[in-house]
Amino acid sequence: MATTPPPQTYRVKSFGCQMNVYDGERMAELLGEQGIRPATEGEDADLVVLNTCHIREKAAEKVYSDIGRLKRDDGTVPLIAVAGCVAQAEGEEIMARAPTVRMVVGPQAYHRLPEMLVEAQAGRRVTDTDMPAETKFDVLPRRRRSGPTAFLTVQEGCDKFCTYCVVPYTRGAEISRAYADLIDEAQRLLEAGAKEITLLGQNVNAWSGEDGKGRPVGLDGLIRDLAALPDLARIRYTTSHPNDMTEGLIAAHGEVAKLMPFLHLPVQSGSDRVLKAMNRSHSVASYLAVLDRARTARPDIALSGDFIVGFPGESDAEFEETLSLVESVGYAQCFSFKYSARPGTPAATMDGHVAPEVMDERLRRLQATLGRSQLAFNRASLGKTCEVLVERKGKLPGQWLGKSPWLQSVHFTGEAAVGDLVRVELVEAGPNSIAGRLVQ
Ligand code: SAH
Ligand code: SF4
Ligand code: F3S
Repeated sequence: MATTPPPQTYRVKSFGCQMNVYDGERMAELLGEQGIRPATEGEDADLVVLNTCHIREKAAEKVYSDIGRLKRDDGTVPLIAVAGCVAQAEGEEIMARAPTVRMVVGPQAYHRLPEMLVEAQAGRRVTDTDMPAETKFDVLPRRRRSGPTAFLTVQEGCDKFCTYCVVPYTRGAEISRAYADLIDEAQRLLEAGAKEITLLGQNVNAWSGEDGKGRPVGLDGLIRDLAALPDLARIRYTTSHPNDMTEGLIAAHGEVAKLMPFLHLPVQSGSDRVLKAMNRSHSVASYLAVLDRARTARPDIALSGDFIVGFPGESDAEFEETLSLVESVGYAQCFSFKYSARPGTPAATMDGHVAPEVMDERLRRLQATLGRSQLAFNRASLGKTCEVLVERKGKLPGQWLGKSPWLQSVHFTGEAAVGDLVRVELVEAGPNSIAGRLVQ
């Protein structure tokens, strides 16, 4: 392959979870340090990074069509790097199937992109899916830019091995980033304009470390210390595992004013038999007990979850148990998915795969139930006056969009600016957003 001149412009496209969004931002910063600038809208980038997700079949297949679409009208292609979880899981396959891809880089190796780029420019195709001992966090550049809301990865990887899930294989074993590094990165984000920080991890509540005085701390300790930073207005965290919801973390919801009243706690199924087959290591009752304790600590807490319908062997009656669970919790919002068999996971070879049309019907019913729950939650918020963090302009003149403490999308018109915390009365509810009135 011929040599390529150094790229002047890049574009990073991230798919999948918020952690991938965080990684995408870090890759952009890294490329910026190499003197490469982001391509403007509509401009062809010299270097394109596809930061991929492997969680479900559709997400993974998308990569190949995205690669195909990068071909320009004149037949040329940019330098293409495939990053993220598909790169980790199917690196060799991508190299074999997609000859235009020059670089394949896993989620724990992307700090090596600059060296890979040198190789790629010399005409070589390079793959790096190592999970090196030196972590990317030690060598990534300092944060310099941020919007009002920022992500901060504090924990990565997963040791839980739910039988349907690829994450333990694509992200590796659980690691917690060091306390001091996190306080430092949070400070940089605040200097760059962040008002709200969402702490991220595949099992964020499994984070543990030692505080500045050498005392062992869990996520609640980190949250309390972050709350002491004067410029930080709001703290959120996601995603948690029910078994790692410690008493301390639950208590923090009642005690730390900057910790927003929102808990995303995936449960996946309302059937104990299915949970066991999923290797979720919690029961419906133990999950509900955690939600009860969270509500006791913070009565207005908004609850969210993830659900999978059509796990192998899921019967009609077991699916009905999921619907009952949803009815009984009163979720504020949720994500729900059809089970997708992932190569290499134990569930993929289990008996009793559910027919696609049955899955479709179950997902339709579940989403209808969740939609009602979400609308009911939003309606119950009407009349409240709360702070909204303004994130961006709306479509209408003078309109602004932001989030309530309960993570509802709120739109309103009036005097405001991105990054403002304004007081808004919630006046009209839809299933996915709320209309508010600015309160002077
Ligand atoms: N660590 C988090 C989230 C992991 S991925 C947790 O354990 O809750 C996000 C969601 O994707 C999961 O909660 C699950 O609902 C869904 N998911 C994961 N693997 C899946 C699969 N094979 N098929 C369908 N949905 C899946
Ligand atoms: Fe996947 Fe389960 Fe780990 Fe979540 S806890 S990332 S669903 S293996
Ligand atoms: Fe997808 Fe990897 Fe996140 S598989 S959901 S990008 S951890």
